[in-house]
Amino acid sequence: MTARPASAADVDCVAQLHAARINEGFLTSLGIPFLDRLYRRVLRAPDAFIIVEESEHEIVGFVAGVADLGAFYRRFMIHDGALAALRAAPRLVRAIPRVLETMRYPSTTADLPVAEILAVAVATDHVGRGLGRQLVDAATTAFRARGIDAAKVVTTSDNPAALAMYRACGFVSSAAVEVHAGRESEVLVWTAS
Ligand SMILES: CC(C)(COP(=O)(O)OP(=O)(O)OC[C@H]1O[C@@H](n2cnc3c(N)ncnc32)[C@H](O)[C@@H]1OP(=O)(O)O)[C@@H](O)C(=O)NCCC(=O)NCCS
Repeated sequence: MTARPASAADVDCVAQLHAARINEGFLTSLGIPFLDRLYRRVLRAPDAFIIVEESEHEIVGFVAGVADLGAFYRRFMIHDGALAALRAAPRLVRAIPRVLETMRYPSTTADLPVAEILAVAVATDHVGRGLGRQLVDAATTAFRARGIDAAKVVTTSDNPAALAMYRACGFVSSAAVEVHAGRESEVLVWTAS
């Protein structure tokens, strides 16, 4: 099994894996059509990437990274906002407070790197075999290839698997934030050595 850059044909599977495996943040609550649109934008963005793990023609893991999350969200809103909102409504109406919290979050970590791992997930029947670590290592390699030598990731403090994986890949806990009110998250930072 090897990690490889995603193609447009992989985006459906990436969106489905995100929806099935990631229950933190508001993105999942907006539904698969919204995630599909988001990841198509990631794939098209010159300063963003998706890397997938494939096993027997099935996508069993992915990682997505962006060079500047705030700039990426702003671009997404300009290009895809109206259509994505239509696709996500009425879920979007219910999620508005969490959307606003997420849009505000990059400015609350102004002293930390702007490059960020947006999401990483491994299919349930493939966890615990080193795929998560391989994907995160591939992401830091992808950042390096773009001349980026530091990046951050945010995960909820009650996600021991994600915290262990990021630490195993050299990320260091650097801040505690409440991206969403009442749910504590950690910001972990990777710096190229
Ligand atoms: C987080 C996740 C991607 C880890 O994937 P994985 O393939 O099981 O991880 P790995 O097998 O590569 O393990 C990486 C490290 O984390 C540790 N680890 C994995 N699961 C763990 C758990 N439940 N508790 C404690 N440590 C754990 C491993 O021991 C390993 O450490 P080591 O390399 O020092 O031995 C996977 O559990 C997942 O998809 N979770 C749901 C989505 C999610 O939470 N994503 C992160 C937030 S966006």
